[in-house]
Amino acid sequence: MQFRNFKMVDYVVYGRGSFNRLDEILESHRKDGAPMIFLLDHFFRDSKLERRVPAKGNDKIIFADVTYEPKTSYVDNIARQLKDEYGTVSGVIGIGGGSTMDLAKAVSLMMTNSGSSADYQGWDLVKVPGVYKAGIPTLSGTGAEVSRTTVLTGPTKKLGMNSDFTPFDQIVLDPELTADAPADQRFYTGMDCYIHCIESLTGTFLNEFSKSYGEKALQLCREVFVEKPARRSGAEGWDSESDDKLMMASYAGGMSIAYSQVGVAHAVSYGLSYLLGTKHGIGNCIVFNHLEEYYPEGVSEFKKMVEKNNILIPKNICAGLTEEQFQTMINVSLGMKPLWENALGKDWETKMTAEKLRALFGKL
Ligand SMILES: NC(=O)c1ccc[n+]([C@@H]2O[C@H](COP(=O)([O-])OP(=O)(O)OC[C@H]3O[C@@H](n4cnc5c(N)ncnc54)[C@H](O)[C@@H]3O)[C@@H](O)[C@H]2O)c1
Ligand SMILES: [Fe+2]
Repeated sequence: MQFRNFKMVDYVVYGRGSFNRLDEILESHRKDGAPMIFLLDHFFRDSKLERRVPAKGNDKIIFADVTYEPKTSYVDNIARQLKDEYGTVSGVIGIGGGSTMDLAKAVSLMMTNSGSSADYQGWDLVKVPGVYKAGIPTLSGTGAEVSRTTVLTGPTKKLGMNSDFTPFDQIVLDPELTADAPADQRFYTGMDCYIHCIESLTGTFLNEFSKSYGEKALQLCREVFVEKPARRSGAEGWDSESDDKLMMASYAGGMSIAYSQVGVAHAVSYGLSYLLGTKHGIGNCIVFNHLEEYYPEGVSEFKKMVEKNNILIPKNICAGLTEEQFQTMINVSLGMKPLWENALGKDWETKMTAEKLRALFGKL
């Protein structure tokens, strides 16, 4: 385990308009009679992007309902329906934010692996490769486009299907697709990347591989969220260059945590999302806002970015919860052992206790 051997994404195409190459890219992956399945984020129903999806023959567009982050039951349902309807499919193409990309990865795997996706939540439990899968982000920040996991909420836990079979065979990084994202959502998801960088760069698992990517991603985040004129200060602000930069920040941030790990913000926000369904990007922001003790410089810069970009970070979301509910969140969070070890070192259990975590959740 000392030297991890990474399976990475096989093919990457980058650039404005690169989405137009999708048809040609998919051609050699089409199998006789088996359709391509396009999982399209439901935000794009009846949109220009929907009309550009290169669906033909018996291909199918399924609108991914990402009102909630992906659940194992949702993955299993889609995979079962596809198997019932077609037997097999040529591939699954996820077009959307991190939720849709994760859904596409998981459905691809469940086309060939038996049982429920809940059986594979964990590390290296997936038995066989899935069908061909491609990921096309329409939001930048999660790094889901490069990661070897797909985060799912199951009956007993929120945990990824972490395996060498999980990364995409192809990703299409077209910054044009992120242009219309609402400023708040773009910020929350962008901060996921910023937080990945801070957690990776200050973590005990850091090495030169992670550092190289993490520093670049952090620089790009700063260019976009700190150095650009604020978005509500007139005609300037967010522009196409910002979309280009944030898309590469997400990629590099994802590569950085691939060889290190995330940390306190992610461990705590997993607890929130498990109990309250708080979404990943905004949940990370809610937590990070209170982590001065662990990441003093990062949190101070984060607060400046929040103010500059005029973003609302919800407060008091845990007010009114019962002690039992707090305990659930604490248990989920403390279960994320590698994250704590990265953040606080091998003796993390002496530094982060249930009482300390209870106090932190109480502030959120
Ligand atoms: N696999 C991984 O490595 C990994 C890493 C981090 C997060 N995640 C997962 O990613 C998810 C969060 O992803 P996210 O932050 O990208 O958000 P998301 O995919 O949950 O989408 C958030 C909202 O934005 C909408 N949306 C997407 N693209 C849009 C666009 N271009 N314009 C307007 N609206 C758009 C969606 O419809 C949705 O309502 C979580 O489920 C999290 O668990 C996975
Ligand atoms: Fe994240």
